Formats: sequence, C-alpha cells, structure tokens
Amino acid sequence: MKIVMVASEALPFIKTGGLADVVYSLSKQLVSLHHEVSIIIPMYESMLFKPQNLDFIGTSDVYLSWRKQQATFYHYADAGIHYYLISNDYYFKRQQPYGYGDDGERFAFFTLALRNLLKLIQHPIDVIHVHDWQCGMLPALIKEQDAQHPHFVKTKFVLTIHNPAFQGWLDRALLWDFYNLPFHLYESGKLRFHEGVSTLKSAIVYADKVTTVSPTHAKELLTEVGGYGLHDILSYIGEDFSGILNGIDESWNPKYDAYLHHPYDPKNVTSGKQKNKERLFRDYKLKDPHRPLFGLVSRLTWQKGINLILANLHWLIQEGGSVIVLGSGEPPLTFELDLMAKKYPEQLVFIQGYDERLAHHIYAASDFFLMPSLFEPCGISQMISLRYGTLPLVRKTGGLVDTVQPWNVSQPNIGIATGFMFDAYTAQAMQMALREALDMYRNPAMLHTMIENGFQQDHGWLQSADQYVRLYASLFNKKSAKIN
Ligand code: ADP
Ligand code: GLC
Repeated sequence: MKIVMVASEALPFIKTGGLADVVYSLSKQLVSLHHEVSIIIPMYESMLFKPQNLDFIGTSDVYLSWRKQQATFYHYADAGIHYYLISNDYYFKRQQPYGYGDDGERFAFFTLALRNLLKLIQHPIDVIHVHDWQCGMLPALIKEQDAQHPHFVKTKFVLTIHNPAFQGWLDRALLWDFYNLPFHLYESGKLRFHEGVSTLKSAIVYADKVTTVSPTHAKELLTEVGGYGLHDILSYIGEDFSGILNGIDESWNPKYDAYLHHPYDPKNVTSGKQKNKERLFRDYKLKDPHRPLFGLVSRLTWQKGINLILANLHWLIQEGGSVIVLGSGEPPLTFELDLMAKKYPEQLVFIQGYDERLAHHIYAASDFFLMPSLFEPCGISQMISLRYGTLPLVRKTGGLVDTVQPWNVSQPNIGIATGFMFDAYTAQAMQMALREALDMYRNPAMLHTMIENGFQQDHGWLQSADQYVRLYASLFNKKSAKIN
C-alpha cells in the first residue's frame, strides 16, 4: 500500500513528545512490512536534525483567501521512509514548533500546501493517515474539493487522535477564510462543533476510520468525563472508532544504547543501572547514589500530573528519595520545580529543556519513573522505562492501564507486577504508591523480579503495526459505513 502520514512532528527531524516517536517508528515498521510510506511535516527553524542533502522538489503558491504565501518542498529519505518537508519562513521560521496565537493559520497553510505537494509528487495514494488536529481539515478538503483528482480517487483517510485536549478550534468565519470551504457545510453540522469549527472534529466526520492510541483511552473517549467533548461524535461513528496501542522503537535498548556510559542488559541490570546512577549522581552533584532515584522526562504540563509530584516532593525527599526531572513547559510548574531544586540541591535536580542524551541517561539510571498523568492516551515513557529496568509509577488512566501491571500489596502478585499504580487524582493517593515503591526498594530480590517482569513485556511495533495494516486493508474490502 502507498501510505502518507501527515503530522506536525516526526523523528528524526522534530520532537516535542510521543507523537514524533509514533509517526516515525510506526512508519518504519510499515516499511519493513513492504508498504511504501511517506511522512509530511513542516520544516521548522527549530528542527533537531538539519540534513545538508535535502532534495529540492519545487515551490507552490498557497492561498488562504486574501493571503498568498509560497511553500517550498524538500525530500529526504531515511530508514526507507520518504520524508517531505514543507518550508515557509513566515509561518515556520520561529523559535518553537507550536504555541503561537496564529497556530490555526499556520497549520491551515501547512494543510493546503501539503495538498498541493501530494498533487505534485505522489502517485495515487491508498491511505492518508492524519495525526491529531493540525491537518484535521485535509479529509474534508480533499473529499469536498478534490475527490476526482487522479491521485485521490481511491484514497481513504485514517485519523489517529493522540491528544484529545487539542482540537484545533477556529471561528466559523475561518472555514472560508482559511480553507475556502462553503458555509453550508457549517450549517449542515458537518463542519460545525458547537458554535465554531474544530479541525479535529471535522477529521472525525470525514475520515473513513478513526483510532486513538490505546484500547483503554478509546473507552475513555466514549464517556462524557473522558471524552473532552468528543464522546457524542465518536459514539456516533460506532465501530469505525477503535484503540490501537502504540509501540516503541527497537532502538530503545539499554544494551546497544550509544548514549549510555554503561550499557547493560537483563543479565547485569542491577550493576549496570547502579553504574549509570553513580555517574548521573556525580554529574549532577546529587548525594548518596544508594538512595532510590525517581526520574521524570516529560512535557511539563497539567496533563502530566506534575502538581501531584510537586505536592509530594518534600515528603519523598524526607523519606529518602532522590529525584531528577528533565522537561520544559508551563511556567508555574517550572518555577515551582526550580524553587524546590534550590531548596534540596543534593536530592533534587531539575533540568529545564529538551535533551535526548540526558533522557537516555535518566531512563537508565532511575529506579522508578514518575507518570502520575491526569490523562494519558497511551504514553511512551512508561514503555521505555520497562525496557530499561526502571519501574513506572503511574496513575490509572489510558494507555498506562494497558501497559503497566500494578503491584498489589494486599494480594501480592510479584510474579506479574511491573510497576505501581494509583487511581484517585490526589496527592495522597500518589503518596501511597510512592510508599509502595520505597518499600519495594528495600527488598532487592522482589525489586529484581519486578524488573524482570518488565523486561518480558513486548512493546515493539510488530503487533500494533499489523493492526494498522488490517485497519487500512479493511477500508478496501468493504464499503465504509461511515456518515460522510
Ligand atoms: P507525550 O507525547 O504526551 O509528551 P509520551 O510519553 O507519549 O508523552 O512521549 C514522550 C516522549 O517525549 C518520550 O519519548 C520522552 O522520552 C520524550 N521527552 C519528553 N520530554 C523530553 C525532554 N525534555 N527531553 C527529551 N525527551 C523528552
Ligand atoms: C500524545 C499523548 C501520549 C501518547 C502520544 C503518542 O502526546 O499525550 O499519551 O503516547 O501522543 O501517541
């Protein structure tokens, strides 16, 4: 099949979170299953990877009604994947990939530009796989305006919702102003969401299949509490909506991890992790590497339960824990973390920013990984932790439920437990899970058993990519029952 992934981030070019991991590693797996896969992303100024040898493909004028901007297209091949990068200085030559007041306009430009690109370079496409809100209007644009174009006549659309909290809200006037789509599509309700337009909701309506990134999150999205306002429309499309668990790339492997000072494998996990821990403690001037280390590598946002961590930091340090946090995000959270790190310089380190190398060090050196998320559609970090012998401490939500087997103190299940879990979104509930982790640390034999249980989990992409392939294939086997 010819599959095109359209997204706002993908490795190795740009990453702010798990979306970049997934778009890249799912594509890589699909290539190994003999599919032809392209990824289209914006060419940001802040790209992590800027190859010298990009192939120039061409340019195209893009009109957002009265606005005219030029898109420049480049190609790059890596891991058997065709990458297409869309460049425009006005929209993408900025410090960060997102977080600007005109993000709606920036991604409208990107969506329109990528449609032009697809007409320029691609042969007939089987599946366009849209990720999240940024290009959510693409299925509507092509189905309403370009359905007869030879490249799109047989094209099917899949939408994957990675984060339902971001829905691409626009004023209804922008439907025409940005996308040149007629107002009757708003009036009929197809492109209306409450009193405005949501690019994510539009994609749900126009895509042929919709997925999210774990089975538990799929169930959550169908409820009023967990659905972020999408539960009605997702319930309406019925069996065209499902959850497919993310995998992680095989390159996450402590044995072959080139970033690590001391690579290790399941046979020497205890000594290997201790050496990495001692090195990290030295590098960051933490005291006593025999204390249990709790690591966190994350976007620092309300989604991730950082306030629960903050509420427990003082207690955790008094109880003998050390903590290392790497991340960037919301100023109230980074401010508090900074204050606490200054208060406890020998037990707590906070490194602000994005740092791939340090992330690997933290996964390897930590005993426990903190993920007390308010919601977590899938989560990549807890799966990486399991590969690195680092026990995840998670809240009972979304993909964390599907990937972590919680330790049960009242009915001990040491043969299968891989981490610690709490349910109520409160500091007290998290503290009980932290207590369980601290107790486990004092029992090295049981701790080791849990680590081994974690190593035995297979969170590779093989199974999940296969589910995506079956989903794509199903679009050509039967007439889709969907409403659009
Ligand atoms: P989300 O996508 O919601 O941010 P995930 O757990 O799915 O959460 O994915 C997070 C990914 O981003 C992981 O690969 C994690 O290691 C990485 N990551 C997050 N913050 C940083 C950071 N500051 N530096 C390096 N890697 C980071
Ligand atoms: C989103 C979600 C995260 C998920 C990632 C990749 O960023 O917050 O849970 O793992 O997308 O699908």
